[in-house]
Amino acid sequence: MKGIVFTEFMEMVDEKFSPEMTESLLDEVDLESGGVYTSVATYDHGEIVSLVGKLSEKTDIPVPTLIQVFGEYLLERFTVLYPAFFEGVTSTFSFLDSIENHVHIEVKKLYNDAELPTFKTEKNGDLEMTMIYQSERPFADLAEGLIRGSVAFFGEEIRITREDLGDCNGSHAKFRLEKVAA
Ligand code: HEM
Repeated sequence: MKGIVFTEFMEMVDEKFSPEMTESLLDEVDLESGGVYTSVATYDHGEIVSLVGKLSEKTDIPVPTLIQVFGEYLLERFTVLYPAFFEGVTSTFSFLDSIENHVHIEVKKLYNDAELPTFKTEKNGDLEMTMIYQSERPFADLAEGLIRGSVAFFGEEIRITREDLGDCNGSHAKFRLEKVAA
């Protein structure tokens, strides 16, 4: 997993909890990388799972909640770090539709060792869209947070429901997004 995901996670812990919390996670989790992350390097995705697990232990907040909140935070950060992906895009549905065929393709060009999931999107009229997440990594909660963050960014009212697929380990899920009529 790219270092940018780790550096942003640490920043979120600094901001939403405290720099002391970040320090203690790095002290207490046994990390192959030693916990020194740079945004362009690549690290084992298991390290983020361990860090979130420890944060959950220390805060009593469930792991899925923490990962979803991180997804929301990350989307907000992407709007600052990669503004070009949002230019000229006016709705959640068209933005989400662009992830598989545009955003993640550009990400792959930028970091050729990026490990990305696949998304299949389908629009059912103007008010409904489904997005199927599939990955070799178990980050459906991250996808959910990123979707929630996108909805917040575009300021729309959209109901999100999730159905876990496959063996329900978080690597395959279907999201249904329904626009709440204004
Ligand atoms: C401007 C918008 C976005 C950018 C720049 C971006 C970029 C990235 C980057 C750099 C990674 C890490 C790849 C790696 O670790 O090797 C990643 C992973 C991921 N992205 Fe995106 N992304 C964006 C939007 C989204 C959105 C809206 C979603 C959800 C609908 C999404 C879902 C994911 C997931 C779930 C992963 C984790 C890897 C996995 O599940 O296999 N991304 N993305």
